[in-house]
Amino acid sequence: MKKILVLTGGGDCPGLNAVIRAIVRSAEKSGEYEVWGSIEAFNGIMRDPPELIKLNFENTAGIHVKGGTIIKTTNRGNPFSYPVQNENGKWEKVDRSDYLIKSIREKGFDIVINIGGDGSQKISSMLHDKGVNIIGVPKTIDNDLSATDLTFGFNTAVQIATESFDKLVTTAASHNRVLIMEVMGRDAGWIALHTAIAGGAEICLIPEIPYRITSVVDKVKARYNSERNFVNIVIAEGAKAKDGQNSGQLSKDAGDPHFKYGGIGSVLRAQIEQEYPEAQVRTTVLGHIQRGGTPVAFDRILATAMGVKAFKMAEHGDFGKMVSFKNNRMEIVPLKDAIAKYNHIAMDNYLIETARETGITFGD
Ligand code: F6P
Repeated sequence: MKKILVLTGGGDCPGLNAVIRAIVRSAEKSGEYEVWGSIEAFNGIMRDPPELIKLNFENTAGIHVKGGTIIKTTNRGNPFSYPVQNENGKWEKVDRSDYLIKSIREKGFDIVINIGGDGSQKISSMLHDKGVNIIGVPKTIDNDLSATDLTFGFNTAVQIATESFDKLVTTAASHNRVLIMEVMGRDAGWIALHTAIAGGAEICLIPEIPYRITSVVDKVKARYNSERNFVNIVIAEGAKAKDGQNSGQLSKDAGDPHFKYGGIGSVLRAQIEQEYPEAQVRTTVLGHIQRGGTPVAFDRILATAMGVKAFKMAEHGDFGKMVSFKNNRMEIVPLKDAIAKYNHIAMDNYLIETARETGITFGD
């Protein structure tokens, strides 16, 4: 029997459990592999005693319907830059990759499948350079990985955001208000753009198009002077004004090196109120609701297909590579290519035109 180690790293995302279940089912079908989960990304296998769980048909049955990940995840488990508290209580970064690789080998794992976003796949690539037989499965609600047309979790996030947007439309209309909804997405505006089109927003502000507040206020005034005198705005957390800066802060969680976006919706509210005090403005921040709960059917299917493909790659020895959904096919891309480029929305993307033609202002 060959042994596969599966882990989920970075932020959670609807569909992770469907990938795990699919890998386990394919592996059991082959009869030649057993699958183990490392609890909390690589932390599980690096702990003493290790936290590993043998995954089988019984303990993965029905999990594709559930949000989150049954094997847990963390943003603080990079083995190349591992947070360790020294005697003075200060946090230091230590390279524990050699220890990790030793643990993988000592515990008899032949193959590692790392389900994660760009940060996790950078780690996959570095481990592959050090000789680990590793395969990547892309995940993120942000859809910001350029090597795949779509990531699972994204459609669920858009569905949740759209349903929330629909609710905000009826209350905006009742009060003649400007309602701003801030959505996730990091440096990409995919969730915002899709939600704005699905919901029918008047204004959509995304990181790819820094906005001019005068342009936003002009649109608000035009709406206030029409019969439909209310406004619904979708703003991506990574958006900013032309002469402004991003809202957020460095993570306060020890060992998490990321800048955490958040707060641009409130900044926009203050900007509109200053320029146009007649408008009644409110902000809603959707936050982690976008990542929780049950995945929509499309994400369950995409995640399941990616899990099956990852197992096939394991069987064929396609290491140092990542599963990719391209042109409606399951493809394989080298990890190095997968992490090379960030997936911003290109200005010639058909949805930019779709939005403009249906009356959505980007504030440019
Ligand atoms: O990458 C997924 C994501 O939800 C982003 O959209 C968001 O900026 C970030 O993670 C939030 O991170 P955390 O869960 O650590 O607050």
